[in-house]
Amino acid sequence: MAAHVPGIPGTRHFLHPEPERSRSPIFARPKTRCHRKSLMPDILERIRNNLPIGHDLGITADQISSLVEATGAERWHVHAIVRRKYRRHACVACEWLASALPRDAVVFETACGSGANLLWLAGRGFHALHGIDISEEAVRLAHEISRTTGVDLDVWKDDALAPKEPKTLELLAGGIDAVFSTSWLEYSPNETLGEFLRTYRPHLRPDGIVVFVSATHAYDSVPNNRYHSADWKLPVEKRRPSEYKMRIDAKEVAAVASDCGYRLERDASFMTLVTGHPQMATYMLRRLAA
Ligand SMILES: C[S@@+](CC[C@H](N)C(=O)[O-])C[C@H]1O[C@@H](n2cnc3c(N)ncnc32)[C@H](O)[C@@H]1O
Repeated sequence: MAAHVPGIPGTRHFLHPEPERSRSPIFARPKTRCHRKSLMPDILERIRNNLPIGHDLGITADQISSLVEATGAERWHVHAIVRRKYRRHACVACEWLASALPRDAVVFETACGSGANLLWLAGRGFHALHGIDISEEAVRLAHEISRTTGVDLDVWKDDALAPKEPKTLELLAGGIDAVFSTSWLEYSPNETLGEFLRTYRPHLRPDGIVVFVSATHAYDSVPNNRYHSADWKLPVEKRRPSEYKMRIDAKEVAAVASDCGYRLERDASFMTLVTGHPQMATYMLRRLAA
C-alpha cells in the first residue's frame, strides 16, 4: 500500500508560498541520526560533519580550471573540487560509503560529473568504482582528471534514470553493492526519488546500500526560495522556478524508502553558511530482502 508521503507532489505541494516571517537556514539545527552502533558519540559526529575538514583531492585550482575549459564541462565542477571541504553533504556521503563497505565492493555513482567522489573513494582503497553521467563534457572531464591524477576512473555516458548503455546493463546485471548520488537528485521533482530507488533495487546485492543527497524543507522558508537562485535580482515575472525541486526530510525519505523496499539507516543535515543556499541532507538506505 502506498504510504502517505508529505512533500511528494500529489499529496502536498512541495514549494510553499514564503511565510510572513522567514527563517534563515543558518539556524536550521544540524542533525545526524545513526541507527547503527557508532563509535563516535552523536554530538561529536554532528560537530565534525559541519566542519570544513578533509577531502583534499590533490587537484589544484589551476589544474581543474584548465581541464574544465579544455573539455567544455560546466564551471560548477571547478567550485565543487576547489571548495570540496565545504561541501560536507558530499564528503559525508563518501565517508559513509567508505565506512559501510569492504574495499572490493562494487560502487556505482549516478550522475558522477567529474568523478570527484570516485577519486576520493579510490584514494581510500576502493577499486571496483564505476560512474555514469549524461553529459559528454562531464565524462570527458572525468577522463582528463583520470589522466592527470593517474587514478583510473571508469566513467561513461548514460542516463541515470533510464540506463541503457550495454556497459551499464552489464555492470548492473552482475550486481552492485552500492549506488550513490550527490548534487543531482535535488534538481529533480520529489517523485524522482521513488523512480531512482526502484530502478536500482533489482541490481543491488542483498544488504546493498543507497547513499544520496537532497535539499531539505528548511529551504522552503528562505526568501525567494520559489525562484531560480540565479534570477533573484530579476523582476519577478522574469524569474524561473527554483532549481532545487527535491526537498525532502528524513520522515518522507523513510516512507518512500519503505515503499520501494529499503530501510532508512542514517541521515544527516548540514548547516548552511551561505545565505540563500538550501540546507542539504545526506541519507543512507539499505535494501531490504523483500
Ligand atoms: C551538479 S553536477 C554533480 C556531479 C557529481 N555528482 C558531484 O557531486 O561532483 C550534476 C551532474 O548530473 C548530471 N546529470 C543530470 N541529469 C542526469 C541524468 N539523467 N543521468 C546522468 N547524469 C545526469 C549532469 O550532467 C552533471 O554532471
